[in-house]
Amino acid sequence: MADEFSRNAGTYGSAAIKAYLEGLYSPSTPALNDALAQLETMGMPQIQIAPTEGKLLALLLKLIGAKKVVELGTLSGYSGLWLAGALPEDGHLWTFEYDPKHAAVAQGVFQRAGLAQRVTVLVGAALANLSIIEDQAPFDAVFIDADKHNYGRYGQWALQHLRPGGLVIGDNAYLFGYLAGREPDSETSLAAIAGMRHFHELLSQHCEAVCIPTADGLAVGRKT
Ligand code: SAH
Ligand code: DHB
Ligand code: MG
Repeated sequence: MADEFSRNAGTYGSAAIKAYLEGLYSPSTPALNDALAQLETMGMPQIQIAPTEGKLLALLLKLIGAKKVVELGTLSGYSGLWLAGALPEDGHLWTFEYDPKHAAVAQGVFQRAGLAQRVTVLVGAALANLSIIEDQAPFDAVFIDADKHNYGRYGQWALQHLRPGGLVIGDNAYLFGYLAGREPDSETSLAAIAGMRHFHELLSQHCEAVCIPTADGLAVGRKT
């Protein structure tokens, strides 16, 4: 009989299981709660990564002994807390944010978390500001979660500034379904599709990579 646990559907990962495991493996903290509360209080979009994705990012950073990490798209600092929290005392996260309001909120979140020393928030369009930190290269990991049409350019920059064995990670790698099979509804989505496909092609060519089937896809590549 076909039910929620149908073997053919292959969907044993129920909401109950995900909630149970999230409670065990990626429980929230006061700092993470602060970042989430700021989204609500400040009327910001609630488009942060999921707790399970945050934990995965933290684990990946620890597995490669990451010290120098770059993030594109800070929002309120939710993903940044997972990234910075996985770094040693002398590690550093540079996180780029276009919106000055978001950047100010995130700065407060990092401050209250006691991580201000370990994090630099750079305000403005990431592409124009990346050169500011190029003297800190090579980096151990680059997490891309900003404007989607620039993912190809961000991926290119990452591959140029990562050490061999460094990680390039991209959120929204399914591009809300537009990556393949969903009818593009505007010029904007066409540009984003081109950018995201370029990003995946770069990972396939220059990394050992996989796209993890999260809600909107999380691409992870190890620079060869
Ligand atoms: N990584 C965050 C979510 C990021 S949402 C988290 O998981 O907590 C995407 C963010 O990218 C938004 O804050 C948006 O303002 C920012 N953004 C959009 N275009 C950008 C650009 N060109 N450069 C830098 N940040 C950009
Ligand atoms: C949007 C951006 C994201 O990075 C995300 O994870 C979800 C939604 C957005 O711009 O709508
Ligand atoms: Mg995202």
